[in-house]
Amino acid sequence: MTQTDLPQKPDRRFVLQSGAAAVVALLASGCALPAAAGGPPPLGFTAVPPAADDTLRVPPEYEARVLYRWGEPTGLAGAVPPWRADGSASAADQAMQAGMHHDGMHFFPLGRDSRRGLLVLNHEYTDEGLLHPAGVSRSLETTRKSQHAMGVSVIEVVLGPAGWEQVRPSRYARRIHGNTPMRISGPAAGAPAMRTAANPAGDQVLGTFANCAMGVTPWGTYLTCEENVHGYFGGPGRPGADHPRSLRRYGVGPGGQWIDWWRHDARFNVTQHPNEAHRFGWVVEIDPMDPTATPVKRTALGRKAQESATCTRTRDGRVAVYMGDDARFEYIYKFVSRDPIRPGGYAANRDLLDHGTLYVARFDEAGRGQWLELSVGRAGLEPAAGFASQADVLIDARSAADAVGATPMDRPEWIAVHPGTGEVYVTLTNNSQRGEPGKPPVDAANPRARNRYGHILRWREAGGDAAAAQFEWDLFALAGDPAVPGAGTRYPAPGADAFGSPDGLHFDSGGLLWIQTDVSGPAMHHGDMAALGNNQMLCADPATGRIKRFLTGPRGCEVTGCVVTPDRRTLFVNIQHPGETRDDGGSQGHWPDGGHTPPRSATVVVRRRDGGVVGT
Ligand code: FEO
Ligand code: CA
Ligand code: CA
Ligand code: CA
Repeated sequence: MTQTDLPQKPDRRFVLQSGAAAVVALLASGCALPAAAGGPPPLGFTAVPPAADDTLRVPPEYEARVLYRWGEPTGLAGAVPPWRADGSASAADQAMQAGMHHDGMHFFPLGRDSRRGLLVLNHEYTDEGLLHPAGVSRSLETTRKSQHAMGVSVIEVVLGPAGWEQVRPSRYARRIHGNTPMRISGPAAGAPAMRTAANPAGDQVLGTFANCAMGVTPWGTYLTCEENVHGYFGGPGRPGADHPRSLRRYGVGPGGQWIDWWRHDARFNVTQHPNEAHRFGWVVEIDPMDPTATPVKRTALGRKAQESATCTRTRDGRVAVYMGDDARFEYIYKFVSRDPIRPGGYAANRDLLDHGTLYVARFDEAGRGQWLELSVGRAGLEPAAGFASQADVLIDARSAADAVGATPMDRPEWIAVHPGTGEVYVTLTNNSQRGEPGKPPVDAANPRARNRYGHILRWREAGGDAAAAQFEWDLFALAGDPAVPGAGTRYPAPGADAFGSPDGLHFDSGGLLWIQTDVSGPAMHHGDMAALGNNQMLCADPATGRIKRFLTGPRGCEVTGCVVTPDRRTLFVNIQHPGETRDDGGSQGHWPDGGHTPPRSATVVVRRRDGGVVGT
């Protein structure tokens, strides 16, 4: 399709009318949006002021309780390894306990109401100093413990008279980690670049780690996203001239590791086993209802620093998956399945994510955008350019996206779809290098040089169809402190509560948007973000553009993983890396246990004291 075929960019009235029509259509189909159906007005809660102390705060009419801390039993049958504050738990213990650095999360109801369910949550990375009493990882045992502290937890939770409790033991409980056997499926499975000495067929792999944001499929499975996997592959020396582009373009190379697992676990030695790193950076599908089900890496969705895998339906009943690649100047992707979603849950849709088309976004001027297809044989994705097969395109999706002319973005993180209008929102968390010498300049969709505060952009697919090749976009918010001269802050409504580095993003079923922030430690304490305080969560009402601060986290944390139950009466959210060490090396907090205890990432449950709808 040519430029002249692009639809006109609608004005705001068109968008709002279309949104209203979509809400009416939802209501007609029996899928009510409570906020639009005469429920309590949104954002009626007492705003929480910025805070800099070591406490988690919510509005006074709400209560917050810690539910699942790093090191607590997951609820597996059998031995229950106790929490050991001195870090002396074994690798085997850690495989039965909550991992570190809780991130993306979803609530899967068990039964008809929202009073019992499974929480499935990611554990993104480790604090090696807290994890090992003798310091950083230096043996096979500490390597294994580190691997076991990442991955995914499946826990069962129930709302009892005393509030939400974890069910222990639970027949659903599961810890998936860096050594859990998995299957590799889709076009890259079995490709030469996926084959290793341990798995010559290239179709099986041990583990998932660096699990950041997530997605949930229409058929009820959980998608965990492998983000910063490059930090765990290393080796002696520096990359040589023969170091492949599919590793180089992803920051994988000898000498590049964050943690030297390679010294004790040879598959992470990228010099000896270069293909092992091709087997990470994927979306992994997990059936939360069957703790014996083998997780599956879905290669059709492309390899990147996966940040999210947000699913929605196309007009003709297929699935579309939106994905961010969180690194400076990386891209936003969309996968559209070949086949329609079938009734019957996961059993009827086991191969749905293995067949389809991957696209990458180009954001043009004047609010127009185009999805560019990433298929071998198209748009220069030819053998001469290093793409001999679709497997090559998917394994080196970043280079394929470079080749087709996608728009480099300011670190795309979470993506959320409005349940009524279908509008898609994405956080672009920050990019201190935008417009710097030798780096991409500002553009319409990434309009600020040295974008230190981040922004939220949204788009609307042509014809309201998630399968469309074109879209229209606008900027929802330019984050930052309005008091800082030259910050270029712009919020959709006057009086919005300020924030920086938007990261987590969740639409509840009523159409309220929960924004979670991840200002990094040095910027928070030494930069001009200090006035914004600790990281926080805000609630936005896209219908009015109002944004109000709902929660402030303890020192050093990021806030992430928010999910609201279908009945909208409970909100689960993760506090990641509380007390994170300052750049001078000191720990700056002891949340949630206080005193001189080690800080612990944890899931928090938030309810209104009167049991009402959250965010109202
Ligand atoms: Fe793990 Fe991009 O946040
Ligand atoms: Ca994080
Ligand atoms: Ca994130
Ligand atoms: Ca982040």
